[in-house]
Amino acid sequence: MNILLLGSGGRECAIAWKLSQSPRLDHLYIAPGNAGTTAYGTNLCDLSPMDFAAVGRAIESHDIHMVVVGSEDPLVAGIVDYLEQHHPQVMAIGPSQGAARLEGSKDFAKAFMLRHSIPTARHMSVTAENLDDGLAYLSTLQAPYVLKADGLAAGKGVLIVDTLEQAQQQLRDMLGGMFGTASHTVVIEEFLHGIECSVFVLTDGNDYHVLPVAKDYKRVGEGDTGPNTGGMGSVSPVRFADAEFMAKVDQRIIRPTIEGLRAEGLRYRGFIFLGLMNAGGDPYVIEYNVRMGDPETQSVMPRIASDLVDLLEATAQGTLGSTTLDNDPLATATVILTSGGYPGQYEKGKPITGLDQVEGSIVFHAGTAINGDTLVTSGGRVLAVTSRGESVEEALATSYKNAARIHFDGCYYRHDIGFDLTNNA
Ligand code: AMP
Ligand code: GLY
Repeated sequence: MNILLLGSGGRECAIAWKLSQSPRLDHLYIAPGNAGTTAYGTNLCDLSPMDFAAVGRAIESHDIHMVVVGSEDPLVAGIVDYLEQHHPQVMAIGPSQGAARLEGSKDFAKAFMLRHSIPTARHMSVTAENLDDGLAYLSTLQAPYVLKADGLAAGKGVLIVDTLEQAQQQLRDMLGGMFGTASHTVVIEEFLHGIECSVFVLTDGNDYHVLPVAKDYKRVGEGDTGPNTGGMGSVSPVRFADAEFMAKVDQRIIRPTIEGLRAEGLRYRGFIFLGLMNAGGDPYVIEYNVRMGDPETQSVMPRIASDLVDLLEATAQGTLGSTTLDNDPLATATVILTSGGYPGQYEKGKPITGLDQVEGSIVFHAGTAINGDTLVTSGGRVLAVTSRGESVEEALATSYKNAARIHFDGCYYRHDIGFDLTNNA
């Protein structure tokens, strides 16, 4: 089978790594890919996942049988519907555009959860028309205040503020275009106290498998301080996501989500990412995403023992119920090496050395490029150092040992990934 994987981050590098291990794979193409994905397939560097007609031409010219969509933008823009209409012979992994609204519109996601009695924070959706109601609603809530841009805002559309005054000002600013059209509707939410985890579900619309649970670390600073980033590391498993907790997740969240999608006629053959809050032992949905997480995927893929091509084929064909998912009992940990200054301003083009010294970890590339014959940085998040171990602690120790062997000017990483889940917590 020839597969086209769309995306260019560490997540796609990890998916490419996993796909490349399948005896079912003939050739893997990654568009646009990065310097690391060339180890697993051929990069189509000039192909933008948002240019659906160009994706279609690549399908024809490379005899592609399956398209795996890594990131949310093409899904929310309707790539799966486009492929079903124009290339019906191709297996497209991802939700239809209607179902992708679970990520593309927070207002839609909240209303969906209300319709299907799925536990989530109380909320109100506000536009310029009902600003006064929104301001009044804020004053009924306790601090801190959560304000979310309705649409996609590259992971930056959530504000958490401490005072009512700030919250009311931010609400006005968001409706005034702080995130462009994405914040023409704002979801105000009650703040949930607890600890988060990321649950990934692979579904064909009827049946599903729950992939290994992971936790990511979004803040740039140690102890979860400082600005949000695309993710500074991840671990799997998550010790509080035990059988009892996961039974609640299954019964209260996963089943009603899949049944709700089906009842509303929203086609979904792909990954569902549940961002959950464990509040006193009960799971609440913080957000839905319609793709895998980054950098969770880097910790999840090495824990899947089953053949991913088989699972994705069954997903596309609606036969997931006749497959099994085998997980690897080993733990994993991922440490992200970033460019100095990220998530603010940072420089690119710094030569990367030391990868040949790495032992016992997998290094997934995120923001890398080849300049002449030198590997250089080309993004904020540069590399993901992922390791396995008997425990999360052991996996982390291996990742940190190898992270210290990799060098580029300005390299920064957090030294406390997993701090709230390990035995020292
Ligand atoms: P989101 O983009 O929806 O994942 O939000 C970004 C982050 O904000 C989440 O990962 C949480 O850490 C935090 N967050 C979002 N909504 C809430 C909430 N209702 N209560 C507490 N924290 C939240
Ligand atoms: N790790 C969070 C995300 O991928 O959105």
